[in-house]
Parts: sequence; C-alpha cells; structure tokens
Amino acid sequence: MARFQTQAPFPALRPRRLRAYPALRAMVRETHLSPADLIWPIFVMAGEDSHEPVSSMPGVSRHTVDRLPALAATAHKLGIPAICIFPYTDPALKTEDCKEAWNPDNLSNRAIRAIKDAVPDVMVMTDIALDPYNINGHDGIVRDGEIINDETVAALVKMGQAQAQSGADILGPSDMMDGRIGALRTMLEQNSFHNVSILSYSAKFSSAFYGPFRDAVGATGALTGDKNTYQIDPANSDEALRMIARDLSEGADMVMVKPGMPYLDICHRAKSEFGVPTFAYQVSGEYAMLQAAAQNGWLDGRRVMLESLMAFKRAGCDGVLSYFAPEVAEILNGAH
Ligand code: PBG
Repeated sequence: MARFQTQAPFPALRPRRLRAYPALRAMVRETHLSPADLIWPIFVMAGEDSHEPVSSMPGVSRHTVDRLPALAATAHKLGIPAICIFPYTDPALKTEDCKEAWNPDNLSNRAIRAIKDAVPDVMVMTDIALDPYNINGHDGIVRDGEIINDETVAALVKMGQAQAQSGADILGPSDMMDGRIGALRTMLEQNSFHNVSILSYSAKFSSAFYGPFRDAVGATGALTGDKNTYQIDPANSDEALRMIARDLSEGADMVMVKPGMPYLDICHRAKSEFGVPTFAYQVSGEYAMLQAAAQNGWLDGRRVMLESLMAFKRAGCDGVLSYFAPEVAEILNGAH
C-alpha cells in the first residue's frame, strides 16, 4: 500500500468522494446488468390455455404450449434474448428407456416450434437430460441401479437431434454423462445443423438447490437415490475446470456453472482460465430462497434480485439463467 502514502492533510484519501451522488456512482460503476444478459427458463405442461403455479417457486408457473407465443413476445419486448424450455411430462409417458425424450411431438419439441413460429427472433435453448422422461427420475438410463453412460449418450443424441429438427437454437446438455458433447457435435455436423450451438452444463454440481425444480418438472417423487455418480461433488473446483476444458475440446461453444450463487468462485475461475462465453444458472432453490424471504418481509425482494444477478456479472459471467428474468428485465428497462 506504500504507493498510497501521501503528505496531504488528514484524511489523506476520501474514496467516499466517488460515492457521493448517483451520476458519479453510475460513471465509475464497473459492472452492468442488462436484459441482454438473461436467459428465461420456462416450464411447459400439457393442456390448453392454462397455467399452474409451482408451489415451491412462488411467482413461477407451468404453462401450456399455446401460451408460449405470448411469453416469447414478452421476452422479445423486454430484450431477453433466449428462453429455455423445461417440460413437465405426464407420468404415464415416463419409461425405463425414456423414449418420449426423442419423440418429435413431445411437449418440449412442440414448445420449441410454437416459439420459433411465433417469435423467431427469440432464441430457444433446450435441456438435454433424460430425467423428465425417466421412470426413476435420473438423467441417464438405469440398469441394476447403475447409470449406463454410453447408452445414455446415444439416447441424448437422438433427443438433441429431435430438438434441432424442431428449431432449437441452443442445445443445453445438463446430464453430465461422459462424451455427450462430442457425440452431440458430431450429430449436428452430420445433419447440417452447423449453426446450432451447444451451451454445456459443464460445471454442474450435485446440489440440494435443485429441489424446487424437481417439483416443477414432476421428478421429485420419481427420483431414486441421488445424482452423485454423475454430477460434481460440491467440494471440488479443479474438477469443475477439467470438465469445462473437456467440454470445450469436444465442441461446446459456451459453458455453464450450476448452481450459481454458492459457486461464484467457479464462475470466476472458469472465465479467467478459458475466456469463453460463461453462464451461470441461478437455480430453483436460489430463487425459492430469495422469494420466501421477500414474501416474509425479511429481505427487500427487488434489491436482492438485482444484487444477486449483478454478482454473476461481477464474477465474470456473460449471462445468467434466472427465473427472475422477466421481472428484472422490466425493472432494468424502466430504469433507463
Ligand atoms: C435436469 C436439470 C435439473 C436442473 C436443470 N436441468 C435438475 C437436476 O439435475 O436434478 C435444475 C434447475 C433448477 O434447479 O432450477 N437434468
């Protein structure tokens, strides 16, 4: 700190000078949050013209496919560039081979088409994992209690191909099987989907913060055991970086860290080390926590929402998947 030594009269330094009034604070602000940084996750369900609240995620609903064009139009108007689709699958369609995952007319593929037909400028991102279609709630095919890696990858490729054929712009493999990025990239190249990008859930941790999401997609009751044989141990950060390096070498265009807030150190390391487009997922449990406290009057909901999202940008992320996306975009647009 020697370079700050000065003979000037007390107090030598007044850093508060730069915090004294809003225009100056705005001018020296280091990080900015904009609607263009947001990806909006939306839950989709069967039926017509209805929606159903997710009880563990106050303010979030599952929507029928026919309501998606209006939601996509809202995203477009707010400047949110992408929507990420998550299906709530009828339990009767869940099987051990998960074949509903690559049905061209499954909920997720119908949702992609509905959005791209109505509002082509809004990008659609998908989730690639078998859990919404698996009778036992796992992301991969289970046999004798084991998650079978290579067979799962073959299923994920079929799933990704159906999504690309439906018009998906960005594939989001969230399954954590080995080799899936390379296999998906090969499939995309062989089928001339040269401009479909892959945002890999590379650093996906085995987290308790996914609880409300599993409610939202109807996987809670279904899941037997845990996901520790494929998702990363929350104690590890070198391993997360190795997964990012591996996915980039297999052809991922963008990478994700998930969950978000408890893993900002990983976001920071990922961006510093690789310098590639890096996203975080502020997951369902993070959303539920902030909403619950806000609803009880224990936290100022609006401020913690903005502060938590700004933290991702400060940590080095290029963008964030967040259930707060429409609300926060509305605030950001109003502030300009
Ligand atoms: C599916 C998937 C999960 C989430 C996104 N994709 C759950 C899980 O891995 O169990 C969680 C998202 C959230 O909690 O908001 N593989």
